[in-house]
Amino acid sequence: MSNKVAKLTLEGSTESIDLPVFSGTLGPDVVDVGGLTAKGLFTYDPGFMSTASCKSAITYIDGDKGVLLHRGYPIEQLAEGSNFLETCFLLLNGELPDAEENLEFAKSIRYHTMVHEQLYEFFKGFPRDAHPMAIMVGVVGALSAFYHDSLDINDEKHRELAALRLIAKMPTIAAMVYKHSIGQPFLYPRNDFSYAENFLHMMFNTPCDEAKVSPILAKAMDTIFLLHADHEQNASTSTVRLAGSTGANPFACISSGIAALWGPAHGGANEAVLNMLYEIEDESRIEEFINRAKDKNDPFRLMGFGHRVYKNFDPRAKVMREICDEVLQDLGVENDPLFRIARRLEKIALEDEYFIERKLYPNVDFYSGIILQAIGIPASMFTVIFAIGRTPGWISHWNEMISNPYKIGRPRQLYTGHVKRDYPKK
Ligand code: SDX
Repeated sequence: MSNKVAKLTLEGSTESIDLPVFSGTLGPDVVDVGGLTAKGLFTYDPGFMSTASCKSAITYIDGDKGVLLHRGYPIEQLAEGSNFLETCFLLLNGELPDAEENLEFAKSIRYHTMVHEQLYEFFKGFPRDAHPMAIMVGVVGALSAFYHDSLDINDEKHRELAALRLIAKMPTIAAMVYKHSIGQPFLYPRNDFSYAENFLHMMFNTPCDEAKVSPILAKAMDTIFLLHADHEQNASTSTVRLAGSTGANPFACISSGIAALWGPAHGGANEAVLNMLYEIEDESRIEEFINRAKDKNDPFRLMGFGHRVYKNFDPRAKVMREICDEVLQDLGVENDPLFRIARRLEKIALEDEYFIERKLYPNVDFYSGIILQAIGIPASMFTVIFAIGRTPGWISHWNEMISNPYKIGRPRQLYTGHVKRDYPKK
C-alpha cells in the first residue's frame, strides 16, 4: 500500500485527483496513474522516457552514478569474481548458487546444449549470406515446435526447463548460424568444455582439428556474455515482457526479444560501431565524424555512444575497455588500428561540449566489437553474441512476470486522426 499521494489538478477544475505514490528499495518513487482512465484521462509518454512498466527485483541501474546491480551485486564485482553461468543462476533465482547448486546448474545446462537433429534441416533453407540475426529469430522461435514439454507457462517446472533449454541452446544455434555462413560442418557441443569454451569450440574448430580453445579467449568470451546478461526494462526485455503478457510460449517471447535487439539503436549498435570505425579508417578523420554526429541535418550518430538511462559512464563499457586492453595485449595486437581510433574517438568526444552537455558516454557496445573481432568473430555475428548474453535476463524478467499476477500489456494512445465521417454513397 502507498502512504504518499500525488495530487493532479486540471486547469478550470476545482477537483484534484489523488494518485498513490509508491517507493521501491532503490531509485525514484512512482506515481500510480491507473485511476486516470476512470477520470477520462491517459498519460502520454512516447518512448516511455518517464514510465515504469512493472515492479522488478532483478536489476537496478542508477544512470547518473553509472551503477548497475544484478540482484544487488555490482556488475564490476560480478565481472571480476563471478562467471556467466553463476550470474545466470543469480538472475533466475535471486541468490548466488552454493557449490552444489553451481555444479548442478552447470550440469543441467550442459545436458541441454544439443539441439534436435531435425533443426539441422532448417539451415538448408537459409541463404549462406543471410544476416545471422534473421536466422536466430527464426530458429529460436521455432524451438517451440520441438519442445512441447516446456510450453505450459503456468507450470513452474515447464518454465524452468524452457529457461535451461534456451540458455543452453543459444550458443549451439549461434555457432550453427556461423558455420552455415562459411560452409563448414556443424560441431556438436562437448560436455568436457565450459559454456564459453564450448561456444568458441563450435564456432572455430572443425572435425579435422583437435578440440582446443584458448583459455584467455574463453575467459574474455565468458565475461562478455556476463556483461550483457541483463539491463532492467530495455527495449528487447520490454518486448519479451509484452509478448509474454499475452501468454505466448517462452521460445516465441525470446525470439521477439532477439528481433527487438537487432536494431542499431539497441543491440545492433556493436556491429554498427565496428562498421563506423572502419569507415573512419584513420585518426585524422575522427573530427569529421564527430562533426557529423553533431550535425542535426546528418542522420549519423556516434555508434556506441549515449544511453537512455546512463548519463555517466556505462559501468560495462569500463570493464569492456579493460578486457579489450588485455585481449589485444595477449593476442599481440595491442596496436590494433581500430582500438587506437576507438580510444582517440572516446577521448575527443568526452572533451567535446556537445557530448558533455548531453551526457553522452561510451556504452556497452563501444568496445565489445573490437574484442569480438580480435577473437575472430565477424561483425555480422556481434548482435548474436549480445543475444546469447542477454538470454538469462530476458528469461528472468519473463519468469518474474509470469510467476506473479500480471495483465496483458495494452497501451492506449492520443488519437489525432479523423473524427467520424460517413462513407460516400455511390
Ligand atoms: C544498448 O536500454 C538499454 O539498457 C540498452 C542497452 C542494454 O543493455 O539493453 O544498454 C544496450 O542498446 C546501448 C545503446 C546502443 N545504441 C547506440 O550506441 C546507438 C547510438 N546511441 C543513440 O542512438 C542514443 O544515444 C540512444 C538510442 C542509445 C539513446 O537515445 P535517447 O535516450 O532516445 O536519447 P535521444 O535520442 O533523445 O538523444 C538526446 C540527445 C539528442 O540531441 P538533441 O536533440 O537533444 O540536440 O543526444 C543526441 C541526440 O541527437 N545523441 C547523440 C547520440 N546519442 C544521443 N548524438 C550523436 N551521437 C549519439 N550516439
